[in-house]
Amino acid sequence: MDRKRVFSGLQPTGNVHIGNYLGALRNWVRLQEDYDCIYCIVDLHAMTVDYDVAAFAEERRNAARVLIACGVDPARSLFYYQSEVPQHTELAWILGTMTGVGQLSRMTQYKDKAKGSEARLGLLAYPVLMAADILLYRAHAVPVGDDQKQHLELTRDLAIRFNSRFGDEFPVPDPIIPEHGDRIMSLQSPTAKMSKSDPDEASRILVLDPPDVIRSKVKRAVTDSGSGVRHDWEEKPGVSNLLEIMSLFSGTPIPALESEFGSSGYGKFKEAVAEAVIVGLAPIRAAYEALDDAAVEAGMRRHAAVARDKAEEYQQRVRVRVGLAG
Ligand code: TYM
Repeated sequence: MDRKRVFSGLQPTGNVHIGNYLGALRNWVRLQEDYDCIYCIVDLHAMTVDYDVAAFAEERRNAARVLIACGVDPARSLFYYQSEVPQHTELAWILGTMTGVGQLSRMTQYKDKAKGSEARLGLLAYPVLMAADILLYRAHAVPVGDDQKQHLELTRDLAIRFNSRFGDEFPVPDPIIPEHGDRIMSLQSPTAKMSKSDPDEASRILVLDPPDVIRSKVKRAVTDSGSGVRHDWEEKPGVSNLLEIMSLFSGTPIPALESEFGSSGYGKFKEAVAEAVIVGLAPIRAAYEALDDAAVEAGMRRHAAVARDKAEEYQQRVRVRVGLAG
């Protein structure tokens, strides 16, 4: 039987952080065992906010290299830059004709990002392009962190709406969200999620951060008043976030960490957190160093060509459904 299909994407601007890794990328890597996976550096999505044109190509390449270092395996998965497969945007247009502006303007991410600036069409339409990414390949499952849940809901709505208007074409995709690590919080304000766009670099640990930087960021992480290492999001969001991070990197369950560090001070606990993160990220840094930019780029180009052929076949079926062909 054919394997089920997985699709997911990551924006290239800003460096990949442990929230991306624990919330999504670890699942991307695991799912390669059992699914037919298609992964994308979604450069068109990254253009929906101001970005540095001169640095863009380099950021894109670097993101690709980091993801391969994390375990995205081009020998098993299709992996390319979104903009190199124009069928994504064609399908986005068609889906856009079926999407209510009201539904888009209620999206949390839109409301956050549009705050204080002129609301742009690209930002409003962002989730429609995301739906097109997923539906283009008839994906069944989408590994993401918690913050993408709402966009997945829209994708599901659009699949259902399209199928009922034009005939059964798209599977209705399910999100794959990890039970732990779905929402890694900022080290500096642990009630907000860790984010690439936070101006405070101490708020996030990058997967390529060297050990001394990791130690210093964890040491400066906001903890809570009082002492005692306990998992309690209400009372101790900072400590709880560090416990989650340590548990995910070390594989030790949170209750075991609570008994081990419960009565020690935050200092000793934070040292142990930093070491767990350093050990967990070391193979990724090593793999990153061993890769070569030119080879990564050549692979991305090759895969884009394969993806275009595949996408074209699927997209032709959509054109027929909506009355754009023969
Ligand atoms: P992006 O680039 O912001 O993030 C990539 C992935 O990382 C997850 N993530 C987190 N998980 C846990 N804790 C955090 N603090 C954290 N921050 C980010 C995100 O949920 C995401 O899975 N819109 C998407 C990109 C996209 C996409 C798609 C994803 C475009 N098209 C199609 C899936 C399918 C985004 O901005 O991800």
